[in-house]
Amino acid sequence: MAAASSFISLLTKRLEVKVALITGGASGIGKCTAKVFAQHGAKVVIADIQDDLGHRVCEDIGPSNCSYVHCNVTDEDQIKNAVDKAVATHGKLDIMFNNAGIVDPNKSRIMDNDKSDFERVLSVNVTGVFLGIKHAARVMVPSRSGSIISTSSVSYLIGATATHAYCASKHAVLGLTRNAAVELGQFGIRVNCLSPYALATPLATGFLGGNDEELEKAMSKSANLKGVYLKAEDIANAALYPASEEGRYVSGHNLFIDGGFTVVNPSLQMFQYPDGS
Ligand SMILES: NC(=O)c1ccc[n+]([C@@H]2O[C@H](COP(=O)([O-])OP(=O)(O)OC[C@H]3O[C@@H](n4cnc5c(N)ncnc54)[C@H](O)[C@@H]3O)[C@@H](O)[C@H]2O)c1
Repeated sequence: MAAASSFISLLTKRLEVKVALITGGASGIGKCTAKVFAQHGAKVVIADIQDDLGHRVCEDIGPSNCSYVHCNVTDEDQIKNAVDKAVATHGKLDIMFNNAGIVDPNKSRIMDNDKSDFERVLSVNVTGVFLGIKHAARVMVPSRSGSIISTSSVSYLIGATATHAYCASKHAVLGLTRNAAVELGQFGIRVNCLSPYALATPLATGFLGGNDEELEKAMSKSANLKGVYLKAEDIANAALYPASEEGRYVSGHNLFIDGGFTVVNPSLQMFQYPDGS
């Protein structure tokens, strides 16, 4: 009986006694990951610039398991403060999820793209991830352990899936992930990233227009895997693996959550059934 209950606990509480800091945790993927991590026993600190939404997520999860800190990831003092708050509140930081991200307006010609938009996207999506890795490492190196996860995108591999700034930024997230994994491995710290296909969140609907349902239908046309829409829960569940002890030898890795989108060349329809059966 005791063995059975500890087995169930292993399945349902994969992050027991872990402390996680999630940037961009007030909305979309970050919000869902905060909930999933807390369900699995983690103490979660949400760092975001949308204070009202962030506080609401914490109320939903429960104040004993979740707290909020205002943090603009482009500001080093604010990232440092968020990491220090997690350590001051819970005594350590086990998981850093660099997930905050933005996209610039959808302009198909590079001539129409503004330098200020390009730099704004790189500032959040790249500098923010760099600062997150840096300050997580600051507190993880002395404890000789930790898991750092960042959100990249299928845009790091496939061209023309988003704006120039966004694609460039997500390529950079993979570069930072690999470099940091090499450097921090000597301290027992693992560094990985996740690359989702498009899913309905405020970022994606703001970029493409329409509501969640319309976006899902539109994205399913170019998706490889049919009959299922990608949801924030799928990314949160993928984050659980590198975050938990089950992923203890996984580092420098990118995990696609894309239903096989990135392995298909759509111009070669070799396996397409003509009648769609
Ligand atoms: N939705 C998709 O289709 C998709 C696909 C692949 C990757 N991603 C990536 O997933 C991550 C999460 O995006 P999402 O889709 O959940 O979007 P979202 O807009 O729902 O969430 C992004 C969160 O980041 C926060 N944020 C933005 N700028 C910030 C800053 N300077 N400092 C702190 N927080 C900031 C926002 O307030 C928001 O809460 C992003 O990195 C995004 O690029 C999204």
